Amino acid sequence: MHWKLKANIQNTVSLLPSSASYATYYWIQRYFGGLRRIDPVGSLAAGIETWKRIRDLGYNPSAKVFFEVGTGRVPLMPLAYWLMGAEQTISIDLNPYVKTELISESLRYISDNKEEIQGLFGSLLNKKRFDVLLQFSKSDHCPLRAFLDLCSIHYLAPGDAAQTALSPGSIDFHTSYMVLEHIPSETVKRILEEGNRIIRDGGLFAHRIDYSDHFSHSDNDISAINFLQYSDDKWNRYAGNRYMYMNRLRHDDFIRLFQSVGHCLLEVRTDIDPQSQEILSRGSLQLADRFKAKTGAVLSITSSWIMSKKSS
Ligand SMILES: C[S@@+](CC[C@H](N)C(=O)[O-])C[C@H]1O[C@@H](n2cnc3c(N)ncnc32)[C@H](O)[C@@H]1O
Repeated sequence: MHWKLKANIQNTVSLLPSSASYATYYWIQRYFGGLRRIDPVGSLAAGIETWKRIRDLGYNPSAKVFFEVGTGRVPLMPLAYWLMGAEQTISIDLNPYVKTELISESLRYISDNKEEIQGLFGSLLNKKRFDVLLQFSKSDHCPLRAFLDLCSIHYLAPGDAAQTALSPGSIDFHTSYMVLEHIPSETVKRILEEGNRIIRDGGLFAHRIDYSDHFSHSDNDISAINFLQYSDDKWNRYAGNRYMYMNRLRHDDFIRLFQSVGHCLLEVRTDIDPQSQEILSRGSLQLADRFKAKTGAVLSITSSWIMSKKSS
C-alpha cells in the first residue's frame, strides 16, 4: 500500500473518539492488515534472542523477573521468557491493546505446530511448562486472566513505563523490542530513569530499536530512510498520530539518551542497511535540517541492540 494512503487512513481513524478509534483500527488491522493471520513465531524468536543476548553477557535469566515496555496485542515475549524459565514478566503498555482472541489463535498455532516451536527454543525450552501450556491451549475458551496467571505475566495496561509504581529494585531485566522508536524522546529518558529506580543492583537493560521508516515495511517503493527528508512539522502531519508515531531519533541520539541517564553501555550492535548507504552516498535524498549534520555511517544504521546497566 502506498505509504501516504496508509498515513491518511491512520490519521483519519485517530480523529475518532478514543474507544471507536481503537476498535476501528483493530478491525482494519484484523481484516486487511498484519493481524489477518496470527503467527507467533517471530515474537517468540524475539524473546529467545533477547534471552540469549542477556545470557551471552554473562547474566543468568533463569528464575528472574523481566520488565517489558510495550506489550502490544499479544504478550508473546513474556510467554517466551516463561517457557525458558523466567520467574515473572511485568509487561506494561500505555494502551490496553491485548486481545484474547489473538492469544487463543497464537496458542492454537503453538499446539498445531509443536515440533516447530520446540525446534525454535531448542535446549532452552522448559518441557514441563511447555506441556502445561499445550494442555491449557486444548480448552476452546482462553480466559485472559487464566493465561496471564499460568505464564506468570503481570500485565499493566493502561500503564506508563515512565511511572510504574513498582517497588525499587523489583526487576532484574528491563527490556523492549521495537518499541522505543515510537515514544517521544523525553519520555524514553523518563522510562530509563524509572528503569534505574526499579531495577536491582546488577540488573541489565536490553533494548532492540528499529530506526527505519516503518512505512517502508509495507511500501516497497520507499527506502528505510525515506522519512529523513521531512521537517518535523511535515512529518507530524503524516505520522503524528497514536498509531504511527515515530520519534525519528537516530542511533547516536539513542546512545546519548542512554548515557544521559548514567548508563554504562555493555554491548551495542548495529545493523546497517546497504540501500540506505547507497542513497546517502549518491546524495539522492534531500535530508531535512535536523539530519544534515549526521554522517552517512550513522544515518544508514536501521536498527540496534543496546545492552546497558546503570553506573554504580
Ligand atoms: C509497536 S508497539 C510494540 C508492541 C510489541 N512489543 C510487539 O512487538 O507487538 C509499541 C507499544 O508501546 C506502547 N507504549 C508507548 N508508550 C509507552 C509507555 N510510555 N509505556 C508503556 N508502553 C508504551 C504502545 O502503546 C504500543 O503498544
